[in-house]
Amino acid sequence: MSKQNALLLVGSPRESKSTSDVVGSYLLKKLDERGWQTKKGYVGQLIKSEESRSILLDALDKTDLIILSSPLYIDSLPSNTIRALQVIKQHRRSCNNKPQRLVAIINSGFPEAEQNYTALQICRRFAIESGFEWLGGLPLGGGSGVDGKPLDKLGILFRKLIKSLNLSADAINKGELIPEKAIRLMKDYPIMWLYFNILQLGIKLLAKKGGVLDKIHDQPFKDLGW
Ligand SMILES: Cc1cc2nc3c(=O)[nH]c(=O)nc-3n(C[C@H](O)[C@H](O)[C@H](O)COP(=O)(O)O)c2cc1C
Repeated sequence: MSKQNALLLVGSPRESKSTSDVVGSYLLKKLDERGWQTKKGYVGQLIKSEESRSILLDALDKTDLIILSSPLYIDSLPSNTIRALQVIKQHRRSCNNKPQRLVAIINSGFPEAEQNYTALQICRRFAIESGFEWLGGLPLGGGSGVDGKPLDKLGILFRKLIKSLNLSADAINKGELIPEKAIRLMKDYPIMWLYFNILQLGIKLLAKKGGVLDKIHDQPFKDLGW
């Protein structure tokens, strides 16, 4: 049986230093370990000229699966990524393409994974309108916690994120949709708990520095009825 092909498109302008690259590359590596032929490209480089766009479309024609891994920008995707999706959609519509699948991973700065839902819906709509089979979307909150570092070197806090990607690779390899459990595990990523605790600690330290730590729970405007 011939090998299946996966193409990772990294939407972040931060390219190799990005969370999008680290998370997408981990999933790509897991598919490679399962016998897939894999390829990666940075969207910004792939759409900047006529020549690079033809490299993108050539890679697209050869692939069975696209993994789009992108940061969340203003509840949507970076402009380069939107442009790439437009180019891909136009190409898919103008030629009679083979069946191809799409999975999206969106990571945000804010810790709540739900921040990414609108952008994932945009990816889903893109998949439907371009004739891809939509395998599902993985929402990652607090993406800056990864910040370009290899996932397996980040320690126990990232265990659920890694498990989510392993489960996703298994499902993709079997031709299945991204399982609910993988989505749940990615949403459970504990950076949210850390984020709020560090934020609270920071506020308390600031209050202590300003000599108002004992007043931190005061509500001076409470009786004004606002
Ligand atoms: C222009 C811009 C817009 C952003 N908009 C959002 C946003 O709407 N919500 C959010 O949670 N994070 C937002 N972020 C933060 C990024 O999504 C976050 O830092 C992400 O982890 C970057 O991923 P990357 O390393 O893959 O580029 C924004 C960042 C930039 C630079």
